[in-house]
Amino acid sequence: MSNVSLSSSVCDKSSKVSIIGAGNVGKTVAQRVIEHNLANVCLLDIVEGLPQGIALDLMEARGLELHNRRIVGTNDYIDTENSDVVVITAGIARKPGMSREDLLQLNGKIVTQAVRECVKYSPNALYLIITNPLDVMTYLAWKTSGLPPYKMVGMAGVLDSARLQTFIAMSLGVAMDDVQTMVLGGHGDLMLPLPRYCTVRGIPITELMDEARIAKLVQRTRDGGAEIVKLLKTGSAYYAPASSACRMIESVLLNESRLLPAAVYLQGEYGLRDLFLGVPCRLGCGGVEQILELNLTEAELNALHQSSKLVKKNINLALEQLVNLT
Ligand code: NAI
Ligand code: 2OP
Repeated sequence: MSNVSLSSSVCDKSSKVSIIGAGNVGKTVAQRVIEHNLANVCLLDIVEGLPQGIALDLMEARGLELHNRRIVGTNDYIDTENSDVVVITAGIARKPGMSREDLLQLNGKIVTQAVRECVKYSPNALYLIITNPLDVMTYLAWKTSGLPPYKMVGMAGVLDSARLQTFIAMSLGVAMDDVQTMVLGGHGDLMLPLPRYCTVRGIPITELMDEARIAKLVQRTRDGGAEIVKLLKTGSAYYAPASSACRMIESVLLNESRLLPAAVYLQGEYGLRDLFLGVPCRLGCGGVEQILELNLTEAELNALHQSSKLVKKNINLALEQLVNLT
């Protein structure tokens, strides 16, 4: 484990979470955060009226959902000031005719502009990036922010692991919370589900299922985002992504130091450096408190390096496209 020094605790006052982007993911994270009574929320979007309407709607549900958390909708970054956690979900989805490179550039501009504004008002916050392509956007956000790397984290591993957990539980017919899973790597086709580290009440799934059955569940996990897109026809998943983000926010605000897979800045861990990639880490009120180096087999380590190469290539492409990064 590599240790990271902690800044002062952010958990000892009334907490505030700002969410940039009031689309499907952003508004669902907002709902989860207030209804789980974790923090007050500021929801910001570029579209006038959208965050205000969602905020009012959620405020009107408070008497029924029985909580007193406040949510404010805004188009002005000043309202995000003094946040403990800033969540970036602003962006656009890939449309027909648009290349991955186009998306890198468009979302890269949106994310860096949002982070630049937020850091002005919340320099001590933990930044949680959700916008895709996730690992690249987290890197750009960090570069722009000027913050120490332990204050920046990308959400994907919790979601990918939750999907694998679901598929294993459904396949074996066991209770969801009896299943523990671990998915590393970039959030994409080269993500690395780790069957050796997936268990049912401590029993490795490799003892409960044959290789072919595991391989199917692993592939379904890799295709998890696409499977939902195909069913929805417009838009992508947001309930499980919002729950995943909320789990991470909870670990920070309640200083739980949970061990979660997330995109964190690597500085030699797993033989990789200067990129954000999904690995297990401990998240607490200081941010990323520790990065855990698992004992990987040669094949697993090679697969993680393959995944990292694609992320690194896209980071370099995005950096070429974007100017004005601090
Ligand atoms: P959405 O299209 O419903 O919402 C995006 C929102 O961003 C819109 O309301 C839009 O007005 C807003 N926006 C665009 N430009 C903005 C700007 N400059 N400033 C402020 N707001 C701006 O999309 P959805 O479903 O909420 O997804 C959001 C992002 O999260 C996408 O990039 C998606 O691919 C990604 N995602 C990532 C996941 C992960 O595991 N990391 C999981 C699910 C989604
Ligand atoms: C997902 O995995 C779209 O990245 C998003 O659902």
